[in-house]
Amino acid sequence: MKDKFGRDITYLRVSITDLCNLRCRYCMPEEGVPKKKHADLITQEELIKAIQIAVSLGIKKIRITGGEPLSKPNIIPICEQIAAIPHIDHICITTNGTFLPKYALALKSAGVTRVNISMDTLVPEKYRYITRVGQLDDVLQGIDSALSVGFEKIKINAVLIGGFNDDEIPDLCRMTEKYPVDMRFIELMPMSGNFDFDDKSYVSGDIVLEKMPELVPVDLDGGVARLYKLPSGQGRIGIINPISSHFCGTCNRLRLMSDGKIKPCLHTSQEFSVKGLDDEGMRQQFLNAIEAKPARHPDLSKDSPSQSIRNMNEIGG
Ligand code: GTP
Ligand code: 5AD
Ligand code: SF4
Repeated sequence: MKDKFGRDITYLRVSITDLCNLRCRYCMPEEGVPKKKHADLITQEELIKAIQIAVSLGIKKIRITGGEPLSKPNIIPICEQIAAIPHIDHICITTNGTFLPKYALALKSAGVTRVNISMDTLVPEKYRYITRVGQLDDVLQGIDSALSVGFEKIKINAVLIGGFNDDEIPDLCRMTEKYPVDMRFIELMPMSGNFDFDDKSYVSGDIVLEKMPELVPVDLDGGVARLYKLPSGQGRIGIINPISSHFCGTCNRLRLMSDGKIKPCLHTSQEFSVKGLDDEGMRQQFLNAIEAKPARHPDLSKDSPSQSIRNMNEIGG
């Protein structure tokens, strides 16, 4: 289904929980977030119905996000039920990877086709610092598990933070030589709850090209990423520039959150709830959300952060 700017809306990101076992400084407060009341969340049945309706309106790709989606006890039945919906080309998941040793095989068997894994650093102490509680080894084992059960086109996401991991750009790029994975660098987006960052934390994605002159552009559709390759790389290097050159002109996505609210745009405050509605009511809310998609979101900076009333742990990126 096309929005009023002619963009075909084919991609639904579904945040199934705002809870997470980690506390990344750009995403969650240190104390975590209060657990939402059961009555404030959509049921598994409503979630599946909402996805079916979105698919009937032209959605072809579902990405399950969080919080941490693998911290949800019914994650495997949710994936199985999504996989049973006809006309979905891809069921993807974005995870911090730490539970993949436990779940990679079950996710593959349940019909998940692609996995993106968040890992901002290769230094154990820095991983502990940025996630506040995590162990680097857990995510490295998660990457191994995803590879060993046969997931292809695995993408590793690192949020670029000046003074924190910009010195690791070459090492992170070399992950693509060691493993058949894509490595993507994402500009830090200023959300209203990003407390820990000062001006020098916000660096342009172009720093990757400055530090890695040997990168060769790859002429492939990288979705939100500009793609490159190391001459001897197995996977590709992606640069995602939501700040320095946003990609709203080709935006093809909607977001559904665990409380049943649809977000037409990551960075605007408008939301449309499907909770408690029948099929026709849900359908109308998806149509309203598509109609409400803005041409673009306002420019973002530390002094003018996202207008989203949610933090990333609720939206799922
Ligand atoms: P692929 O389907 O593999 O291309 O994944 P993806 O890049 O759509 O999803 P992922 O969950 O790996 O997100 C990567 C980063 O891109 C996250 O930091 C997201 O917040 C960001 N991102 C994804 N979609 C949008 C968008 O519409 N606008 C902005 N500003 N950022 C986005
Ligand atoms: N800016 C950029 N990326 C973010 N993510 C979470 N919060 C932010 C932010 N403020 C990333 C996570 C994950 C993806 C879904 O979004 O690291 O890889
Ligand atoms: Fe958890 Fe991902 Fe947020 Fe980190 S960025 S706290 S891993 S949801």
